Amino acid sequence: MDLIKEKSVSEAIQYRRSVRVFKNEALDNEKVKECIRLATLAPTSSNMQLWEFYQITTPEVLEKLTQASFNQNAAKTARQMVVVVARKDLWRKRVQSNVSFLKSQYGEKPPADYSKREKFALNYYQKIVPTLYFDFIGILGALKFLVFQIIGIFKPIYRQARRSDMRIVAQKSAALAAQNFMISMAAINYDTCPMEGFDSLRVKKILNLPSAAEINMIIGCGIREESGVYGERFRVPFEEVYFKL
Ligand SMILES: Cc1cc2nc3c(=O)[nH]c(=O)nc-3n(C[C@H](O)[C@H](O)[C@H](O)COP(=O)(O)O)c2cc1C
Repeated sequence: MDLIKEKSVSEAIQYRRSVRVFKNEALDNEKVKECIRLATLAPTSSNMQLWEFYQITTPEVLEKLTQASFNQNAAKTARQMVVVVARKDLWRKRVQSNVSFLKSQYGEKPPADYSKREKFALNYYQKIVPTLYFDFIGILGALKFLVFQIIGIFKPIYRQARRSDMRIVAQKSAALAAQNFMISMAAINYDTCPMEGFDSLRVKKILNLPSAAEINMIIGCGIREESGVYGERFRVPFEEVYFKL
């Protein structure tokens, strides 16, 4: 990637707009891929990285995704699409990856020689994370939620342990990655439009995803036609959303 011409973070944030009409101009696959790589550097809850990214470049798949996105403008002219997928269902695999990484950092030594901090980190992934993620058709999650509410009367406790809460956890982190991607694209004068207007079942079928996978966003990508930016940017007054305590 040509680092010299890149915008600063604040310039890229200012430049990014949701673009609904893109130029008939190809994007460099490798540059888009590099922006996806930067997306994966987003912070993620417990470093679980419960996400996947699908870079769509073939006209047939773009066409299918456009139809599944109700033929909306941002999809119709997109030169590529990036589908950000939340994969809460991969939690066991990600626990394993984190545990393997930690052990590789600790070096070859018997578990008895692990420091307190090392033991805590391993325990976190081997006991606490599975306690939060393990569920059975939502029943265990509801039970955990109830127990945590009772403990919460006496001391501060993490309360969001229902199945729906864990879905939000995965979606939240995936959205941060999506934003990293869009800002990285803006930095190199590439444009995007995040979309949640689509038929998620059809999108999952097109991408051959299991039913447990959730589509976080489809991001239309291309280079803006000035007419593809629909008017001035609108934000409610900053004073309405900013509070200082
Ligand atoms: C989660 C999410 C979903 C969105 N879905 C759509 C969509 O389906 N179609 C669309 O044209 N724009 C969509 N947008 C773009 C918003 O309309 C846009 O971000 C907003 O109007 C602010 O404009 P700006 O991005 O140019 O600052 C979505 C944005 C987000 C964050």
